[in-house]
Amino acid sequence: MDDLMKKLHESAEYISGRIGGRKVEIAMVLGSGLGELGEKIENPVFIDYRDIPHFPVSTVPGHKGRLVVGELEGKGVMCMQGRFHFYEGWSMDECVYPIRTMFIMGIKSLLLTNAAGCINTSWKPGDLMLITDHIKLIPESPNRGPNHDELGPRFFDMCNAYDKDLMVTARKAAEKKGIGLREGVYMLFSGPNFETPAEIRFARLAGADACGMSTVPEVIAASQMRMHVLGLSCMTNMAAGILDQSLNHEEVIETGNRVKGTFESLVREIVRTWPKEKI
Ligand code: HPA
Repeated sequence: MDDLMKKLHESAEYISGRIGGRKVEIAMVLGSGLGELGEKIENPVFIDYRDIPHFPVSTVPGHKGRLVVGELEGKGVMCMQGRFHFYEGWSMDECVYPIRTMFIMGIKSLLLTNAAGCINTSWKPGDLMLITDHIKLIPESPNRGPNHDELGPRFFDMCNAYDKDLMVTARKAAEKKGIGLREGVYMLFSGPNFETPAEIRFARLAGADACGMSTVPEVIAASQMRMHVLGLSCMTNMAAGILDQSLNHEEVIETGNRVKGTFESLVREIVRTWPKEKI
């Protein structure tokens, strides 16, 4: 077993030891604005990242750094409160270390959420988007370097990176709750600066509807491991250059706070109706 695999198994064993016999059916990564859902998980066990052997520890203000394991809507869930971003200085394989740990623990389903800049000019801040696909032009990849065969093949498909059946689940959940759900393509930018207006014009021409600084590394790693992924973005601001105003992190947080109730009720319904065959 190579060094990475040894570390992953040690991390997974530590977490399994802390959660006793609880079964985890869905793993969730909660982005800006949705982290609070982690507090509402029932019968929770909190595990600080700093206590897990080999885990990275998050540096972003406002991002907690812990796992919450418990139940939500009758499902066993494990939530990451706080994720690892490329802009913090982590390599992409470090960013996805927790996702690989989840896989080693036997978790097959992954729900990813994020705050995003809105590129689609027909939409507005506060809109929620089902991620149907993504664009990554920055050359880093979590899978660059030696392949770890236990995780999956060297070359792997990305056509079903965002699980089509889970998209159906999300659409039905939105309809049931009377929540408008946009659908579109998320484009990864490395950050930490927001994009330039020219970059956003380019992204729109390329077919992107939203942009952000997370999620894509996790989706790539999860795809190699054949995990079932659902991605949701909250449009927290119009992307650079669309409105005649500058961008700031406060607007991102403000919009996240404004829609977090709606976002939470959508996520709950999705979790409640998550198809058994994806678990
Ligand atoms: N750009 C990149 N990431 C973001 C944005 C944005 O406009 N808003 C929230 N996250």
